[in-house]
Amino acid sequence: MNQTETQRPDFDFENFTFGVQSTDRMLVAAYQKGEWSAYRISPVQAISLSPLAMCFHYGQTVFEGLKAFRMADGKINVFRMESHWKRMNRSLERMAMPPLPQDLFMEGIEELLKQESDWVIDDPEYSLYIRPFVIATEKKLGVDASQEYLFMVVLSPMRAYYNKPLKVKVETDYIRAARGGAGAAKNGGNYGASLLPQINAKKAGFDQIIWLDAKEKQFIEESGTMNILFILDGNRLVTPALSDSILDGITRDSLLKLAEEEGFSVEERPIAIEEICQRIENGERVEAFGAGTAAVISPIETISYNGKSYGTYLAADAGMYRLKNQLSSVRVGKHPDKYGWNHLLDT
Ligand code: COI
Repeated sequence: MNQTETQRPDFDFENFTFGVQSTDRMLVAAYQKGEWSAYRISPVQAISLSPLAMCFHYGQTVFEGLKAFRMADGKINVFRMESHWKRMNRSLERMAMPPLPQDLFMEGIEELLKQESDWVIDDPEYSLYIRPFVIATEKKLGVDASQEYLFMVVLSPMRAYYNKPLKVKVETDYIRAARGGAGAAKNGGNYGASLLPQINAKKAGFDQIIWLDAKEKQFIEESGTMNILFILDGNRLVTPALSDSILDGITRDSLLKLAEEEGFSVEERPIAIEEICQRIENGERVEAFGAGTAAVISPIETISYNGKSYGTYLAADAGMYRLKNQLSSVRVGKHPDKYGWNHLLDT
């Protein structure tokens, strides 16, 4: 099932579904006897693994998601590449998997992108999504940390992950992660365990869910595939403080910095779901949105909690649109990159 190098000319960049189409090439490196091999770039092809490979049994799978953009001056920018490498290593550590050397991650992705540069088209609504992942490959059914791994990178064309404001339901039965668990790691299991509640929410007419803390089921954690942020009174950006049960989102972090520049006050603190509902009920202006690499900024239009629906502020002057524009402008070089986030390829 090899992909050939002829995909790109036939690809319809206007109409496609995210994540079902990769570009033509992929990267692979292997870990054995305590060392990572050099990477190899090849046509995208199926890989062969033993059914005893540990990734099929005990969940040692970790991934990242980052994006490449075509800058206004034609260069290719990989946004916050080093932060993604660092976060991947934190996830790997939590899952008892070996760290990836910085040059393997960064130079490997750079080289893959250079070979696939014509997939990074010049269009402000488009990006090339980069999906690095590591899986355990040792053949062993004993519960243990694998001694062998594969690091792979695939690329997938992307437009908006969500193309309309979201109706979200606050999940009150299931939880995503508890303190001391692995909620801050980007390991596959966190996403697998989130599927059933999300499917149930979809059946009930919602697009996504908001997770509450595992202990008291009072405090907002994150939303499905994204961190969650609120803008109160038009000028206070408020988001749950990070913990080991919340993903340390790189888009979240970027927005907090841009918000300060834009004159918002920034609060990272526990946010009770009751506080948000109460504010909306009092007629206060509450903006709510998810933020993530894939989701960028995805506005939330209603929050449903215990059977009652609360409408948020979505008018054209909402602060979240300003933040989104600012983020997009930095990524394509139209706004100064004060924090050194842009990693430009030398093509
Ligand atoms: C991302 O935003 O990169 C994610 O990992 C979310 C999702 C596509 C799983």
